[in-house]
Amino acid sequence: MNPSPASKLAVVTGGNAGIGLAVAHEIAARGHRLLLVARDAARLEAAAREIAGGHGGAAEIRVCDLSDAAATEALAADLAALGPDILVNNAGFGDYGPFADLPAQSAAGMIATNIAALTRLTSAVLPAMRARGAGQILNVASTAAFAPLPLAAVYGASKAYVLSFSLALAEELAESGVTVTALCPGPTPTGFAARAGMTRTELFRGAPSTSAEEVAARGVEAMMAGRAMEVVGGTNRLLAFATRFAPRGLLARVTHRAMRERLR
Ligand SMILES: NC(=O)c1ccc[n+]([C@@H]2O[C@H](COP(=O)([O-])OP(=O)(O)OC[C@H]3O[C@@H](n4cnc5c(N)ncnc54)[C@H](OP(=O)(O)O)[C@@H]3O)[C@@H](O)[C@H]2O)c1
Repeated sequence: MNPSPASKLAVVTGGNAGIGLAVAHEIAARGHRLLLVARDAARLEAAAREIAGGHGGAAEIRVCDLSDAAATEALAADLAALGPDILVNNAGFGDYGPFADLPAQSAAGMIATNIAALTRLTSAVLPAMRARGAGQILNVASTAAFAPLPLAAVYGASKAYVLSFSLALAEELAESGVTVTALCPGPTPTGFAARAGMTRTELFRGAPSTSAEEVAARGVEAMMAGRAMEVVGGTNRLLAFATRFAPRGLLARVTHRAMRERLR
């Protein structure tokens, strides 16, 4: 579909792979223009070509390492000037193992990418969105946001932040015309689990997984409808609901089991 004069500009972080690329396709299919942000330039170029080929519309790219505070700040300044209509904070990663055994820089990188960059880019785009009385922000959290996650303690906590931050912002902005949506997928077959070292866990080997395309479709639909939260999949919705009634210590024991490696 070719962008119409009414087409919006959407920025998608982590838009060169997995859920972010699928979200970019969903947005492009609605006739909107894209700016894809990630570190890998070759994959960004391939994603932009794929989107232009599939939907006709323009996709620009921006190489940026969101774990680098200075690079994030430069991107934030550019986004403040650009004034996108849609921001999708999707870039993120996890790691796997007992916290005490993991390199400190992995936790720092996760906090910088999953939390600090998401927060900074949100603060960069909000003034123009509020002034226009229109704008949509989609923050990719996870079902990991609903319970402590032993063996991925920082990752789980980072997603709890994304959910809490997004729900609070959605409420603050309720009368402004700007919407904030937290997207909570469960295990999804992308490069995420391999990068995080989680492919052999009960969680990734046992759980029914939803495709990145389905996650993206649900997320973009929820964002367009202005819903504050979207948990993807019936089982995940049930589990997320159930966590409200379970003691947190018990939750941590259950998720600890799910995060152990299955050896056969
Ligand atoms: N897959 C799952 O099971 C699952 C479940 C729930 C939530 N999520 C969340 O969904 C989001 C997308 O993950 P995915 O499953 O699509 O994983 P993925 O295939 O590994 O994609 C991650 C994306 O984030 C980008 N990225 C990572 N670190 C970055 C950095 N420092 N700076 C800029 N971009 C960076 C990557 O691009 P470059 O490597 O080129 O930078 C890539 O585009 C993440 O926030 C993840 O936590 C995933």
